[in-house]
Amino acid sequence: MLSGIFGLRSRLVAKSLRSFAKIIKTCYGTRRMNTKAQTYHRFSVAPMMEWTDRHCRVLHRIFTKKSLLYTEMVVSKAIIRGLRGKLLGFNQQEHPVCLQIGGSEPDELAQAAKIAQEYGYDELNLNVGCPSKRVRSGAFGACLMLEPELVGDCLQAMREAVTIPVTIKHRIGVDGQNPRETLLPFVEYLAGRGTDTFIIHARKAILKGLTPKENRDIPPLDYPLVHAIKAEFPHLNIILNGGIHSLEQGRREMRDLDGIMLGRAAYRYPDILGQVDNMFFGDSHIVTPFEAFAAYRPYVVEQLAKKVPLHAMTKHMLGMFKGHKGASAFRRILGEQTVPRETGIEVYDRAMEAIEAEMGVGV
Ligand SMILES: Cc1cc2nc3c(=O)[nH]c(=O)nc-3n(C[C@H](O)[C@H](O)[C@H](O)COP(=O)(O)O)c2cc1C
Repeated sequence: MLSGIFGLRSRLVAKSLRSFAKIIKTCYGTRRMNTKAQTYHRFSVAPMMEWTDRHCRVLHRIFTKKSLLYTEMVVSKAIIRGLRGKLLGFNQQEHPVCLQIGGSEPDELAQAAKIAQEYGYDELNLNVGCPSKRVRSGAFGACLMLEPELVGDCLQAMREAVTIPVTIKHRIGVDGQNPRETLLPFVEYLAGRGTDTFIIHARKAILKGLTPKENRDIPPLDYPLVHAIKAEFPHLNIILNGGIHSLEQGRREMRDLDGIMLGRAAYRYPDILGQVDNMFFGDSHIVTPFEAFAAYRPYVVEQLAKKVPLHAMTKHMLGMFKGHKGASAFRRILGEQTVPRETGIEVYDRAMEAIEAEMGVGV
């Protein structure tokens, strides 16, 4: 199968990149590998701009104690020059949490990585998959798939600046690349320089002509290619992302891989995360949306006292009762009645009352 998937040309490219990696090794001394596989890699919730903020992550963590949660992408320049508390602050209950960084300047990334480690993140991830225009103009994100040597420099600089693991999230290719020729040398080259954990969004990014949203749906998924990468490099941690709609599908696709990452399905229906520790980590307990709603309440009260608007917390919960009686009233109350700044915990409670009323509980 592998010789079918990876052609002769990819082997030649791989060979030349391999020699380059050897030269780098000679110049910089012994390679420093990240770390061994972390069990939390078995399941992760994807980094999603404007979605996986700190409030969202607290909610997700109530549902799953064992999986890895990601921040939204933060660009290295902003970490160095921006409002760090706002960009990097997180709640202790979010651990294990990975900060995703965007950038393509090795020195800047190293500086940002150091700052992030001081903030207490468990892991750092370099974004080589985001196709948005803003990111493209900054020469980072998915366009870096065309510059493996620069990606290698970036990852090495980050790794050398910190002691926590540094990973990469990338596409299988971009634009005119043939992933079946270019992905293997890309991974092999970076592995040769010390990266051991690859989160692979199993579709190409088309930088010209598709919007970021279209780039998450239109380019076809190629899961067999990701499995082939794992077969070729069994010692690497290979995590599959893209188009996984359910935990059952995720578990089926995981097979030989080291983990799966869910994005939209986890965000839209966070209650599915309540089964993750059971299905992926062998725990017996399943967290119901009712338990999660109650467990999130003290956090909401605490944040309201800090003048955080209710909507900032509740917008992440809208889909968590999907399929239950009263789900649409729940969604309406938390989606529509929490927008004004002054709304308090009574609106939160009213949403549950709507569910209970429909279920005939306590009325
Ligand atoms: C609203 C939104 C924002 C996203 N922002 C990021 C991001 O900041 N960094 C990143 O690597 N991927 C980002 N992605 C892509 C996801 O991490 C993931 O790779 C993609 O959605 C495919 O996984 P899925 O099919 O499970 O959703 C974003 C996706 C969505 C829907």
